[in-house]
Amino acid sequence: MPWWFFRRRRSAGAPPAAGQTVAGASAAPSLQGERRFLPEQPYMLPKDMGEVNRLDFQHYVLRSLLRANYLAPVGQPRRILDVGCGTGQWACELCHQFPQAEVVGVDLEEIKATTPPSNYHFVQGDVRRGLPFASGSFDFVHQRLLTSALPLAAWPEVVRELARVTAPGGWIELVEPGMGLRVTPTGPANEQLLRMGAQVAGQRGLDTEGVVARSLERYLLEARLTRVQTRVVEAPVGEWGGRIGSLLALDLREVWKAISAPLAAHFGLPLQEVQQLIEKASQEWNSLQAHCTFIVSYGQKPASAD
Ligand SMILES: C[S@@+](CC[C@H](N)C(=O)[O-])C[C@H]1O[C@@H](n2cnc3c(N)ncnc32)[C@H](O)[C@@H]1O
Repeated sequence: MPWWFFRRRRSAGAPPAAGQTVAGASAAPSLQGERRFLPEQPYMLPKDMGEVNRLDFQHYVLRSLLRANYLAPVGQPRRILDVGCGTGQWACELCHQFPQAEVVGVDLEEIKATTPPSNYHFVQGDVRRGLPFASGSFDFVHQRLLTSALPLAAWPEVVRELARVTAPGGWIELVEPGMGLRVTPTGPANEQLLRMGAQVAGQRGLDTEGVVARSLERYLLEARLTRVQTRVVEAPVGEWGGRIGSLLALDLREVWKAISAPLAAHFGLPLQEVQQLIEKASQEWNSLQAHCTFIVSYGQKPASAD
């Protein structure tokens, strides 16, 4: 994947072009700076073409880091669900890997620029309100990177909902950043940025410090999953860490830039000041040789479950 991936389809602030958004979110989107957000959702990140590009880019980085699209021993699933599917890139790749399977992506909104494989379907839904599927419908349920979307208090119930739609004998896999937006070690610019992010996220009930990631196994066990396993994947952030380090730094910088307008508005700062802080923080990742982690937890619904 080339480094210029982001610039290739750059129109970060533009709302999705006609035909690229299927309405379905509960409220009209709002613009902050040049970015488009869903104001009635706790979800922090924008919903626009810039974010489509970032999510696809991030997908390739994560796949490269994990050397796979998933880690659970899922066998040959007939129905696969991706919750909070974003651009649908993960789901579309699963369509090719399992051409006999039906793959469903569920999200608040669909934003898709390309024609998906014929065995992919999008369904609009809000996992916090319950998934629009019958119990036991899917052999494999995947949910990745929803720490920025689901309040900490909602997680146990959300994972129970994932377990409800999982078929007996089926698998659930959850993937989240191990320390939220934090990389380690941190310097002063990072600490300031993290304090600002934590305040804005905290108002929405979101976790920024990795509590969700540390609890993934517990959520699965409380939802009565068995054979629960966790893998902690550590990665460098910054050019010092070679290809993966450079790509993750680019992704993390884009995450912070994506929320720079809400941060500036919240703290009454000029946008430029927040953007300068982001640049300083990203220099710290390199000079301090920072790391981040991703946590992958998966478990199986017992064959005898209801
Ligand atoms: C950070 S993105 C991750 C997208 C995708 N899972 C990936 O790894 O590329 C989070 C996604 O979750 C969706 N989302 C946020 N809140 C949601 C909810 N309550 N129910 C369903 N999807 C939600 C957002 O619209 C966004 O597409």
